[in-house]
Amino acid sequence: MIANVTFQQASIPQARAVNTESPLRDLTAIIRSRTPLVAVESNEEPQIVRMVRQIGDQLQLKAYRWSVTEGLVAFNPCDQPSKSVVKSQEVLSFIKSDSSYCLFVLLDFHIYLNDNVHVRFLKDIALAYPQHFSTVVLVDSVLSIPQELRSFTAYFRLPLPTPQELRGIVCEVAGEWGAENGRREVQTTNKALDLLVRNLAGLTATDARRLARKAINDNGAISESNMPEVMKAKYELLGRDSPLSFEYETAQFAEIGGMQRLRNWLEVRRSFFCEGAPENLDPPRGVLLLGVQGCGKSLAAKAAAGIFGVPLLRLDFGALYSKYYGETESNLRKALETAQVMAPCVLWLDEIEKGLATGDEDDGLSRRVLGTVLTWMSEREKPVFVVATANDILRLPPEMARKGRFDEVFFVDLPSTQNRREILTIHLRKRALNVASFNLDELASATDGFSGAEIEQAIVSAMYTAHSQGRSASQQDLLAEIKQTRPLSALFAEKIADLREWAADRTVPCD
Ligand SMILES: Nc1ncnc2c1ncn2[C@@H]1O[C@H](COP(=O)(O)OP(=O)(O)O)[C@@H](O)[C@H]1O
Ligand SMILES: [Mg+2]
Repeated sequence: MIANVTFQQASIPQARAVNTESPLRDLTAIIRSRTPLVAVESNEEPQIVRMVRQIGDQLQLKAYRWSVTEGLVAFNPCDQPSKSVVKSQEVLSFIKSDSSYCLFVLLDFHIYLNDNVHVRFLKDIALAYPQHFSTVVLVDSVLSIPQELRSFTAYFRLPLPTPQELRGIVCEVAGEWGAENGRREVQTTNKALDLLVRNLAGLTATDARRLARKAINDNGAISESNMPEVMKAKYELLGRDSPLSFEYETAQFAEIGGMQRLRNWLEVRRSFFCEGAPENLDPPRGVLLLGVQGCGKSLAAKAAAGIFGVPLLRLDFGALYSKYYGETESNLRKALETAQVMAPCVLWLDEIEKGLATGDEDDGLSRRVLGTVLTWMSEREKPVFVVATANDILRLPPEMARKGRFDEVFFVDLPSTQNRREILTIHLRKRALNVASFNLDELASATDGFSGAEIEQAIVSAMYTAHSQGRSASQQDLLAEIKQTRPLSALFAEKIADLREWAADRTVPCD
């Protein structure tokens, strides 16, 4: 199924894949505007260094690079200072006292910004700018500029590669791989290549290159089966230390008994994620699944990602509040941004009532969290399909279920007799029991009022009992187990009746 396209060595662009023209123009403009300090937070160090060198040539400024290992090195050997300038403080002293009309790019300077002598030096350099007209460009993968220096500092960011540039990067990487492997050609299909390019969106050139390399290295091909790995690796780059988790386990609807209407609803929207969206079609926004505990809402959220064939990201409200105490809102915003970069994907908000309590006992924090989520849901531009689940509607703020937030609000009720038959079949099969040896009609009627989770539990317990007696579970074992179980629906009959009444004219049944 692979291999209707191969990369021809000749088709690989000779020039670098990433367009450096417009960022070069922007950085030049910053330097020309007489800025003493420029902060560049980026892991594209070689590109920034190249740009500084080019700008030096262009503006006829002497240009230098400093690193802790090599000291100060002039790009043009004629400009090399006569004495050696190696230590971090020496370079700052050199800039302050001995430079005029120069450009300095200082690498890995982040750690020195924690030291007040270095900070003072940089401030002196900034204040003396009208005497020396030299600009210092700081490059590091993380850079936090101390308060004292902020008013002298301009920030520069490399734009992320466009889809076309990403395609160029993939071609370059494929060419390199071919050259290293006896001119073998990387095999791929148009579809797999498109998918890879789409999945690299939102990454820097270096990261995109690394992931493309990883995808190819496996087997010398870019195939659709590489994508889950690519997405997982991408998530690790973006989502580290975030309340979002990447769920490896998506599910298939074949594992769910019932929910036919929800299943059809998702199937109809599947093409949006699989075959690229037609322009005049709005992306599906998401669904809210409300209903009785243990009836398969979480399972259905996983199956949505399975149907669409996209990654599943889960936002853990518990972690959002506890682990990131005091930074809840900024972490929420970051997590939502990550979800957009991972798009198309399913964002799963499990048991939202726990995260979005309506009470006032937290200084309004959960209200603000709710506000952030709702605003984001109505403004997000990328295809992030939200599946939210909730067991307890009374703890759910009314804004949440209002029409327009979600495309549809589905009600997940206790399974019907027919659905219990399906659930029994699914779970007996899953545990390698012979379905034909059970009387499903009898079991289905005996489990009236059971949730899917309770049916599953009864099967598991019956298997334990049978196993302890050295045999395989039988109809009788199951019936005995079912008889002993008191389903939650019996304990909370009133609550479930209220839930149904509430849901009747506000939601659509998922069957
Ligand atoms: N409709 C169903 N079909 C198959 N299995 C189900 C169904 N409902 C529940 N289960 C089983 O019960 C487990 C727990 O269900 P879950 O999806 O967590 O319920 P909820 O999120 O509604 O509380 C599932 O992982 C699955 O094994
Ligand atoms: Mg659940």
